[in-house]
Amino acid sequence: MDKILVLNFGGQYDQLIARRIRAQHVFAEIKPFDRITPEEIRAAGYRGVVFTGGPNSVYGDHALRCDPAILSVGVPILGICYGHQLLAFLTDGVIEPAASGSEYGKTALTVRENVLFRGVPQESVCWMSHTDAVTTVPSGFSVIAETPHCPCAAMANDARGLYGVQFHPEVTHTAFGEQMLRNFVLDVCGCKADWQMDDVAGQIIENCRRALDGKKVLLALSGGVDSSVAAVLLHKAVGDALTCVFVDHGLLREGEGDFVEQTFRKQFGIRLLRVRAEERFLQALRGVTEPEEKRKIIGKSFIRVFEEEADQLGHIDVLAQGTIYPDVIESGKGASATIKSHHNVGGLPKHMRFTQIVEPLRELFKDEVRAIGEKLGIPHALVWRQPFPGPGLGVRVIGEITKEKLDTLRKADAIFREELERTELPQAPHQYFAVLTDTRSVGVMGDARTYGYTVALRAVTTDDFMTAEWTRLPYDVLERASSRITNEVRGVSRVAYDVTSKPPATVEWE
Ligand code: XMP
Repeated sequence: MDKILVLNFGGQYDQLIARRIRAQHVFAEIKPFDRITPEEIRAAGYRGVVFTGGPNSVYGDHALRCDPAILSVGVPILGICYGHQLLAFLTDGVIEPAASGSEYGKTALTVRENVLFRGVPQESVCWMSHTDAVTTVPSGFSVIAETPHCPCAAMANDARGLYGVQFHPEVTHTAFGEQMLRNFVLDVCGCKADWQMDDVAGQIIENCRRALDGKKVLLALSGGVDSSVAAVLLHKAVGDALTCVFVDHGLLREGEGDFVEQTFRKQFGIRLLRVRAEERFLQALRGVTEPEEKRKIIGKSFIRVFEEEADQLGHIDVLAQGTIYPDVIESGKGASATIKSHHNVGGLPKHMRFTQIVEPLRELFKDEVRAIGEKLGIPHALVWRQPFPGPGLGVRVIGEITKEKLDTLRKADAIFREELERTELPQAPHQYFAVLTDTRSVGVMGDARTYGYTVALRAVTTDDFMTAEWTRLPYDVLERASSRITNEVRGVSRVAYDVTSKPPATVEWE
């Protein structure tokens, strides 16, 4: 299988570049710029390398620069934005702050004839975001594109297979960006477009079958898309040697536990242990109101329950995890401040002893995992399930968690989701749910005074959940949800809609 290396220089679009290349049916892998040597690139057999964008200037004290010997490995290189400047810097070009200042946004692009621009009209639109620019083109290179403010918007040294573009071909605002990336990987690098999702699922199953032959495998199944797809793939590979443990902590949404059980046990015939641990979690959470403490208790209890189940199963050789490619990339990137201690079943439990860990999805992006999930016949509702935090409704019941509050929230949440889902919206929010606040307020029903909880509804639109905008839902959806919740859910006398984006708020309330 031909593959491309995406060398990341700290830009925001490394994953997008890799996904765009994979969309051309060519496998792409991301590595930090300083974690691979020229020899390793050669030995791994990459057919080409892409240098990503990055936040720095090539002359800065903290400039991120790779080993210049990478240019002599003998495979084509495409530098994008910072990568383009770095390519010029590592040869003998000159980079300076652009004469007309920063260039940002959609820009008219004029291209000359070059293999990189096959099928691209002479005039089109590209997306620019830069302050520096290449002002002297390195020897052996020629300018192959320009914009009104950037005389060297792209350069090429065809003989050495080195190409640089100042704009971002990976974003959709660059009208022919996809064509340019396709030209690079297929025509310049000569990759065969033979990386197919169908084969990928088959290969994963085959590899797992070989690697896990005769071994017992354990998987913590949460009902999220990653662990669900991992479960079905592993089951196809090893059949009943796979046991899935589904810790039902009682903090799930309405009907969710039964749906997961039904799907995996009945539809797929997977050995599934549903551990009903609601009592235990409620007990551990009694009297606790502080969000981080709740998260930690839920996380710890989860590990304990999982461990106990594993012990009861006797000897298990392999722990399977639903780790996906962005988790792998992120874990190589150093820590940032902890806003919340996220808990994810995929990452648990670190200290348990297994002779082997298997991560069948570790090379795949989320959309690729979903595509496989669809192919495997996993129900649509699971494959496209919106994100649901590991601590579940535990972080959506504000204040102390009780069974009664959880039941109230489950009903309100189900109504809100139902009302939203049956409305045709131009774009559905990426996540939507109800929160049971700890505030009670006075209401009136019939002629009587009520004093019930306030439910908050939340819907957000986002690309990556790092930032999110509150969704402008139509008033009639809110109206129907509000009226049904106050009528149908006992103990709720008021409904509010959360109009805070992230930042400053987070998506979840706790
Ligand atoms: P926040 O609240 O941090 O949420 O803005 C961002 C996204 O992450 C989800 N989330 C979690 N997911 N374990 C998870 O697997 C967690 O502990 C957790 N906490 C929040 C949240 O639902 C949103 O999609």
